[in-house]
Amino acid sequence: MAHLFNRNVLLGVSGGIAAYKSAEVVRQLQELGADVRVIMTRGAREFITPLTLQALSGKPVHTELLDEDAEQGMGHIELARWADLLLLAPATADLMARLAAGRADDLLTTVALATPAPILLAPAMNQQMWRDPATITNAETLVQRGIKLVGPAEGQQACGDVGPGRMEQPEVICAAAAGLFQSGKLAGKRVVITAGPTREALDPVRYISNHSSGKMGYALAEAAVAAGARTTLVSGPVNLDVPEHVHCLKVESASDMLDACLPLLPDCDIFIACAAVADYRPAEVQPDKIKKGAEEINLRLVRNPDIVSAVAASEYRPFTVGFAAETRDLLTYARDKMRRKGLDMIVANDVSRQGIGFNSEDNEVTILSHHAEQALPRASKTTLAGQIIDAVASAAVRDTDAGLS
Ligand code: CTP
Repeated sequence: MAHLFNRNVLLGVSGGIAAYKSAEVVRQLQELGADVRVIMTRGAREFITPLTLQALSGKPVHTELLDEDAEQGMGHIELARWADLLLLAPATADLMARLAAGRADDLLTTVALATPAPILLAPAMNQQMWRDPATITNAETLVQRGIKLVGPAEGQQACGDVGPGRMEQPEVICAAAAGLFQSGKLAGKRVVITAGPTREALDPVRYISNHSSGKMGYALAEAAVAAGARTTLVSGPVNLDVPEHVHCLKVESASDMLDACLPLLPDCDIFIACAAVADYRPAEVQPDKIKKGAEEINLRLVRNPDIVSAVAASEYRPFTVGFAAETRDLLTYARDKMRRKGLDMIVANDVSRQGIGFNSEDNEVTILSHHAEQALPRASKTTLAGQIIDAVASAAVRDTDAGLS
């Protein structure tokens, strides 16, 4: 089904009686998964208050072009770039005329000129205004420029007339909006990915950790979003920006990571364990900084919980994917790990080789499942992430179908 997960929809509301329906448009866009921001023209604010649309969208409503405060928050160019779609609903005859003339005389028309995003327009006006040659010409001009129209519908109008000009129903408009995008292989699926290293405290200033950069896990999160998934990253400490549309939970230790992951499982379809979790932690964390003294000290370490095994054993078991970082006998150890941990799939990579794996830009992996083996040649982590997500999506869907039959 068409959806708008991970899509930014900028809704432009202009001043017609149908503006009251824009509240419903906001709600339905959100139901389809979109992040929604709203621009209102001066006329629109005569019909519905910005507060209503602000409360529904959860974001401040944008109204003025030359408002210093608003420009500091999210300026018109930023808004134009933010949008994956500019939806104009309702679009009055006046708005269509201003767009056709290429004017930039308020925030909405300026953003319409400045956005590289597709524009979908839902006309709403009196039937005679819609039939007027000026409006017909404007509509033709806009369509020729690539703007898509949804509606208008025919029927009884607010002014008492009957004919074409009514704004289409919100569900028709939102379906048309969703139909403009290809839905990815993971449309609407909920994916949780662990990433980065963990830190196991020794005392308030020291910890045991590893060289994991988190790049592979973050690239996977980005690829999952591109495939339409609702994506959560559970991340150890790394120096990376959280990709757009990814919900990120930051954790420190392996125990924190487990505590963050388990509550996510009832709402998780696919779990990908990409984190380099420390297998052991100090048996005791000293409350004060350990002072230099003895020539030798012993550290006693205890086993950490195995997060991916716990996930695979959970009553909410999602399709579970692990990584195997090995320095020798790569495929044998990886297969063994897949079986021991109860995984559906494992991504094996040889961490003994220079230039790939830990802390580098590239990787080279083999994806193993119980019935298939797929070697992916050396490539950037971003490229590989796309290929891994593709393989995971195909296998997870196959598994779900098998479960149903
Ligand atoms: N993993 C985990 N929790 C741990 C250890 C590992 O969830 N405490 C996950 C990793 O995220 C990875 C997989 O298990 O997906 C395999 O990790 P790896 O370090 O290769 O394996 P280990 O179980 O630690 O085994 P070994 O170190 O003996 O190779």
